[in-house]
Amino acid sequence: MSKLDFLFKPNSVAVIGASNNEQKIGHAVIKNLVECGYQGTIVPINPKEEKIFGLKCAPSIKDAGQIDTAVITVPEKFVEDVAKECGESGVKGLIVITAGFKEVGHEGLKREKRLRDICTTYHMRMLGPNCVGLIDTHTPLNASFTPGTPYQGNIAFISQSGAMLMSILDWSFTSGIGFSQFVSLGNKANLNEIDFVKNAAEETNTKVILCYIEDVVEGERFLKTASEASKKKPIIILKSGASASGAQAASSHTGALAGSDTAYEIAFRQSGVLRAQNMNELFELAVAFSRSPISHGDKVAIITNSGGPGIVATDAVEKSGLSIARFQKETIELMQNNLPPEANIYNPVDVLGDARPERYHFSLEAALADNNVDNVIVLLTPAAIIDSVEVAQSIIELQQKYYHKPILAVYMGGKALEDGVELLHENQIPTYTFPEQAVNALQGLVNYARFKEKEAKDKDQEKQEPVYQGDQRIIKSIFYDALKEKRLVLRGDETSQIAEAYGIPVNKIHLARSAQEAKSISETIGYPLVMKISSPDIIHKSDVGGIKLGLHSAEEVEKTYERMIKHVKNLVPEAPIFGVELQKMAEDGPELIIGMTKDVQFGPMIAFGLGGIYVNLIEDVSFRLASALTSRLEVDKMIQETKAYTLLKGYRGKKKADLEALKTTIQRTAQLVMDFDEINEMDMNPLRVYQQGALALDIKITIEHLL
Ligand code: COA
Repeated sequence: MSKLDFLFKPNSVAVIGASNNEQKIGHAVIKNLVECGYQGTIVPINPKEEKIFGLKCAPSIKDAGQIDTAVITVPEKFVEDVAKECGESGVKGLIVITAGFKEVGHEGLKREKRLRDICTTYHMRMLGPNCVGLIDTHTPLNASFTPGTPYQGNIAFISQSGAMLMSILDWSFTSGIGFSQFVSLGNKANLNEIDFVKNAAEETNTKVILCYIEDVVEGERFLKTASEASKKKPIIILKSGASASGAQAASSHTGALAGSDTAYEIAFRQSGVLRAQNMNELFELAVAFSRSPISHGDKVAIITNSGGPGIVATDAVEKSGLSIARFQKETIELMQNNLPPEANIYNPVDVLGDARPERYHFSLEAALADNNVDNVIVLLTPAAIIDSVEVAQSIIELQQKYYHKPILAVYMGGKALEDGVELLHENQIPTYTFPEQAVNALQGLVNYARFKEKEAKDKDQEKQEPVYQGDQRIIKSIFYDALKEKRLVLRGDETSQIAEAYGIPVNKIHLARSAQEAKSISETIGYPLVMKISSPDIIHKSDVGGIKLGLHSAEEVEKTYERMIKHVKNLVPEAPIFGVELQKMAEDGPELIIGMTKDVQFGPMIAFGLGGIYVNLIEDVSFRLASALTSRLEVDKMIQETKAYTLLKGYRGKKKADLEALKTTIQRTAQLVMDFDEINEMDMNPLRVYQQGALALDIKITIEHLL
């Protein structure tokens, strides 16, 4: 029993705004409910009608008896009153099809908020508003105004766009694809994609979860739910709005606030979600996951009746990161003894243009029986003598026999092959028109298998770094002082104190406000040291003579202080000057960067890569959400994704750098930014990592007022 059963498997459904007028949505919903074979009670609600679609009407929901779910199809001005009546009558779920809420602007948003409040008051859950409705083909229930009900199947499709849902439904009738659930999310005012992904993951009729979304509204909850759900079933998401103008279109579409695409990319990867790049890919993957067994490895055999497509498929396999299987000796001998001498017996196996179905059958079975083969792609082009149906029969028969290895069919053609394609569809064999589509889908199957394997392995090795007990009081008082002075960019001496408070190795910065103070500080730091002007308005310090390196004595420091302040004041008289920062000269070492930006949906995001002057040139960065970096394993992976890692391991005879110190620095930075919401941006550049230890030379932190 799932938590949303009152929506997917209700005992009774009312349609408020049901109509006898065939042109109206309220009619279409009643028609779907009846025609899909729903076995529960259907009550049309209409104050003027006796009967609709042969069913007895009730004048209002209050007269309808016990109703689990109400579908609302009355104009927007009546929706709130009707929803209240539903609440008073004990309805558990609302499906609000009516449009005219947040998608139409400010007033609509207010209406939507009131509607949500009504749901909260009466403990109702709501799908929509501004949606097409919901379908469960196994109940069966079609509480929507779609033109027809999808075939029964094992794909749950959750879509933020109603139009997309309708198009997919229409396409599914011609392609023979079946669905377990169809959910149109609409404005997601109460229930959103997270609730439905969770529900589909727990539900027995669904094998693969497919989503089209424009935004995620609760980042943290999404990560948690998707991570758990993807361990049970594959989740494939097409997230639109990846391009800048796409994001704008998405936000004007449903009033969604689009998050940054990088954050989505890493959030999906982190939670095991497969991301489809376009509609084609979404459904190519869905077909493979819905019909194929789980893949147990990345080695692919290709059987073809023509050279060209075989080469295209081979190229695609190699490009995708899968590998072309090397047959065992026995398989090669078997092929040699049974195929014509002109046939290519190595992978890809070319059974030649004159191949009869028996030759396909023989080669396919030989490949499937080979322990070096994990998956097979069967390519077929329309040669005059080929019987596409017989080849399809072989594929079907052998998929049943070798049920643990995915077979993907590529029937490259149209008319001549359509009977074969139909048979393959009917028998749940994933079938594509071009080799690249099949390879792409196979890659998805293999990636998901790898994710599951890695999950199991990581679980054994998982080491959570103990939470570092940083000195939060110091940090809070620094924020307090800065905000009191209306400063959002912290000074170097402040950021180095913050780092120190969280155990981040830092080349400490001291602020001197007079020449005398500079002199005495220098005596405690030691020489050689560096002096930098401290001013929020001066970003390029060297341009105004605001940096001096290699100072060797207290006298030099005293003189430099006077000279630097005078010089900078002359050049930029309007810039406020706090004093001069003093810092010990650090030894040379590889320069790295750790950065943090915040994403609206997913929170702080950490970047790591080559730093110093290389940052923009090389763009060698890997990203993680800060929340993932509590795992040492994840920090390892983050470092290993960069070129910097090659350098740190000891590139060309150089000594290995202290990777443990680097990992600790990354983890503590992640913890710091998670502990303090006030931190808006942070940049540690350069961070030098030595053979022993690490040292942050420059840390920039921008803060914000929390409301
Ligand atoms: N209780 C019960 N029935 C009521 C009612 C109430 N409080 N108020 C009105 N009705 C009846 C009407 O009398 C009518 O029945 P009738 O045909 O027998 O007269 C029926 O409900 C529908 O009302 P009507 O005023 O005819 O509205 P409509 O059908 O033209 O439009 C919507 C209603 C909901 C379809 C429309 O407002 C809307 O939002 N359309 C967009 C939907 C959409 O695109 N959704 C998003 C998809 S992605």
